[in-house]
Amino acid sequence: MSRLKVAVLYGGRSGEHEISVRSAKSVIEALDPERYEAVPLFIDKEGRWEPRPIAPAPGANPGIDVVFPVLHGTFGEDGTVQGLLDLAGLPYVGAGVFASAASMDKDHFKKLCAARGLPVVECVVVRGADADVKAIVEQMPLPVFVKPANLGSSVGISKAKDEWSLSVAIAEAARYDSKVIIERAITGQEIECAVLGNDDAKASTPCEILPSREFYDYEDKYLLDAARIELPARLSAEKTAEVQRLAVECFKAVDCTGMARVDFFVEEGTGKVYINEINTIPGFTSISMYPKMWAHAGLPMAKLIDRLIELALERHAARQALRYER
Ligand SMILES: Nc1ncnc2c1ncn2[C@@H]1O[C@H](COP(=O)(O)OP(=O)(O)O)[C@@H](O)[C@H]1O
Ligand SMILES: [Mg+2]
Repeated sequence: MSRLKVAVLYGGRSGEHEISVRSAKSVIEALDPERYEAVPLFIDKEGRWEPRPIAPAPGANPGIDVVFPVLHGTFGEDGTVQGLLDLAGLPYVGAGVFASAASMDKDHFKKLCAARGLPVVECVVVRGADADVKAIVEQMPLPVFVKPANLGSSVGISKAKDEWSLSVAIAEAARYDSKVIIERAITGQEIECAVLGNDDAKASTPCEILPSREFYDYEDKYLLDAARIELPARLSAEKTAEVQRLAVECFKAVDCTGMARVDFFVEEGTGKVYINEINTIPGFTSISMYPKMWAHAGLPMAKLIDRLIELALERHAARQALRYER
């Protein structure tokens, strides 16, 4: 049997370009050369494709059987590339257009979770520049977290403890998105849980992140190498089960397919579990938590990649069977 040609899309027009390059290297190394032929497709920071782009018409990409988008953040994890792959009629790993876009927008993501009765942190949404700081503080006690609605890697995020730092934080977040989220700051544990599957999605062993700084910011995520990890997370059996259940429900709430990493807070004192966010293309670097959590749950990286490709083909086949006209 001939090998399956797997196009690995990486790089991209995103603040997470470098992380994507590292993730793609791990994914390509984990592709079994007996079964797969890796076709690396690099997208530079300006959005130019090397060695060639994907053509947006069915049948126009003969050298590709399935696509693995290993792109984080803007122009890759947000539904844009998924739209191109749908036009091209190619099977691809992970979430489709809607789930990608809905997961990227922290405001709409929370609304979808809340509509299902899932616990998300209370927030106020403002249109950046003209935010009324006094009115916000009346609705939401300080300290708060201020974030651009659409981004990642903690870019543009700050913690504000007074009105002055809140107005500075809003101005900073508004540089990245006109829509800004202001959220109650939760004190407690930061937990991550991996999800894998389509209709039958399952949750992994959860892990715990212990930031080395005031919060898990860009430096802590990618530069300092000082944040600590606990795998499995230090949670009771009941809390572990609750996190796993919520991870799968959150995955379903946004219509996700393939994979996602769902991040949580477990509040100190109350023990309440809050969903923070969902990442539809989690990191795949040698130190990333998504593959580590599955490895802990008994699924090593090569098997994980096999399964993701299988899920992509299954989803594609199911969609192929649908009609577009009567
Ligand atoms: N409401 C909150 N309470 C406490 N810490 C928070 C809150 N929101 C964000 N943080 C901290 O900021 C980090 C980045 O925020 P997050 O919403 O995960 O954005 P990103 O998509 O950039 O990862 C989190 O990992 C956490 O450390
Ligand atoms: Mg995060």
